[in-house]
Amino acid sequence: MSLFKLSPYSLIEKKGKEPIVAITAYDYVSAKLAEESGFDFVLIGDSASMVILGEEDTYSIGMEEMLLFCKAVSKGAPNILRIGDMPFLSYQISKEKAILNAGRFVKEGRCHGVKVEGGEEVAEIVSAIVRAGIPVLGHIGLTPQRSMELGGLKVQGKTIESAQKLLRDAEILEEVGVFAIIIECVPAELAKLITQKVNVPTIGIGAGPYTDGQILVFHDVVGLYPKIRPKFVKTYFEGYENFKKALKNFINDCKNRVFPSEKESFKISEEVLKQIKF
Ligand code: KIV
Ligand code: NA
Repeated sequence: MSLFKLSPYSLIEKKGKEPIVAITAYDYVSAKLAEESGFDFVLIGDSASMVILGEEDTYSIGMEEMLLFCKAVSKGAPNILRIGDMPFLSYQISKEKAILNAGRFVKEGRCHGVKVEGGEEVAEIVSAIVRAGIPVLGHIGLTPQRSMELGGLKVQGKTIESAQKLLRDAEILEEVGVFAIIIECVPAELAKLITQKVNVPTIGIGAGPYTDGQILVFHDVVGLYPKIRPKFVKTYFEGYENFKKALKNFINDCKNRVFPSEKESFKISEEVLKQIKF
């Protein structure tokens, strides 16, 4: 499907009507599963740095890796809204660099929009990307690309000052034209206030039940990332344990010569077999 048939701005119409539900995807299979399950959009998240590449954080992933994942997702999920997550230092340096890199997500990554972390600090950059014709998804609260500054992956907005800043950030992002705002790791009641304050949908992750939508990391939903299990995650399938069980069964079957059986083997006619010189 061509890119223009799916508009991120169509999500705005869902605000106040039905919850928007999204998930991350990184490769052909996770994307295909996401599309067939019926999510409203997929985010090719820089969480790929952790769940795919095994890094401790999202600082080290770059444009080339992100574009590779985006291309794979566009193959597995060609008919669903796809948003690419701009990696650390791909948008902070200058408006020009930000537009060029956001453009690469569209031109090479076949994405319908990009996600940028931050509020007021990135407002001018977000505005420039939007004015270039590339829809932007905002992301406030816990922004992992600032976890050094925030002192880890912690709940945000618990003090009057930081709560006030989050409300202001959401309003500024709406002003500069984002089509939705991700709110990560924020107390439920504060996420509710932010949701009431802006006219664009809020998509929560660890932000309680009052946001306009929810998003989770694919590997968390299906239990495939054994390293961290955040409090805000609900695991719907013990993927890691079940995959391991399947793999162990394969080993056991081979060791016991149960696999492959006749069913998984190819035949040759007796006639031909007889004539082979050995
Ligand atoms: O990278 C990611 O997966 C994200 C979501 C958690 C919102 O940014
Ligand atoms: Na991210």
